[in-house]
Amino acid sequence: MNPVRGGACAAPTAAIVVDNIGLLCTMDGGAPYGLGMVAQACVHTVGDRIAYAGPANTAPPPPPHAMMIDAHGCCALPGLVDCHTHLPFIGTRADEFARRARGESYAAIMAAGGGIRSTTTAVRDASAEELVAATTTWMQQMLTRGVTTVEMKTGYGLRLQDERKQLLAIATLADAGPIAIAPTWMGAHAVPFEFDGDPDGYINHLVTVLPAIVELGVATSCDVFIERGAFSVEQARRLLLSARSHGLQLKVHAEQLSHTGAAKFAADIGAVAAGHLEFISEDDALALANANVVCEVLSTAQVFLRGQRAIPGRMLGDAGCKLAVASDFNPGTAMSADLLLAAGLAVTQCGLTADEALLGITAHGAAAIGCHDRGRVIAGMRADLLILTSPSPYDLVYQWGTSHTDRVIIGGVVVHERD
Ligand code: NIG
Ligand code: FE
Repeated sequence: MNPVRGGACAAPTAAIVVDNIGLLCTMDGGAPYGLGMVAQACVHTVGDRIAYAGPANTAPPPPPHAMMIDAHGCCALPGLVDCHTHLPFIGTRADEFARRARGESYAAIMAAGGGIRSTTTAVRDASAEELVAATTTWMQQMLTRGVTTVEMKTGYGLRLQDERKQLLAIATLADAGPIAIAPTWMGAHAVPFEFDGDPDGYINHLVTVLPAIVELGVATSCDVFIERGAFSVEQARRLLLSARSHGLQLKVHAEQLSHTGAAKFAADIGAVAAGHLEFISEDDALALANANVVCEVLSTAQVFLRGQRAIPGRMLGDAGCKLAVASDFNPGTAMSADLLLAAGLAVTQCGLTADEALLGITAHGAAAIGCHDRGRVIAGMRADLLILTSPSPYDLVYQWGTSHTDRVIIGGVVVHERD
């Protein structure tokens, strides 16, 4: 199953030639540092695919009638992939942010009925159209930063009709384009009011509704929040094995607030990705590396929650884990849609190299959603390209709080140009 839906809204331009690229980062694992840098490069697209990416002096002649784009000696790289968000949501939790700043913990607020369940009330009260409208605004921000594929999860509806509503909103957004979406079902995000104190009963219920969720034909992955106060490894196993038997990829929120064994479990069950990992051990990291589970470094959440424990990105990288970086965009723990901020924080707060962070928002971000036709600029891949206003890719993680985008191409269509 293709884990991604939509992307670009018009028929692709027949052919595009992006010329005069000072530095192309193919992200194909080549030197230096895996970024696959090519100086004085050009890229040809034909339809929604890349036809040529490499040195300008060995490029084939431009296809006739190709749209010509001058990159003015700046850098080009794959369109960015935000592999972990909690869109679509609605409403604000600014009051909780203020309470946490006065000393209350995220876990205590959640145990008292706030947190995720407070956004559940807002999402249940909203219509699908309202969810779409709110999310469209955020996606426009993402596009200006160069995001071309975004993962979105349910998990604020928690009732079949509201989880469905979130999935249908995701489908509407994907079909409208231009950003492609990897849709994830996360019914096991929190225990809803109806099942208060009965996580086992809720997991049984989720196993029962799973076929109806799959039948909608939107979700391609299933995620579970494994944490004290949310779900145990055993409860997650029950749901995820069932999800896999229905053809869904598996993802896990692991070791965010305490050590529960979720990372080892993600390795055992063969999840495509595990996110957060503040409390992961070295043994767990080796297990994830051996099982080829992509580790999602969700740096914004760590900093937003004023985490006592930093995500040990350096340890994960040294253990051989593939590192993705994502915004984790949600109203509770990461109220920022800015993937570039997450990448900058992954470097300064979690010990990633700038190169790892750049791979984390491109090639490894794509791997975290199980999608292998994007995230690198090589012939045959989807024509998703980000052309910068800067000659250096490192400006993306170094120069914060601004867009470095000149143009964004999705599926062979120029979908955004700098004003
Ligand atoms: O990834 N930890 C679980 N889920 C989200 C937070 C969701 C919320 O607080 O609304 C996260 O941090
Ligand atoms: Fe998350």
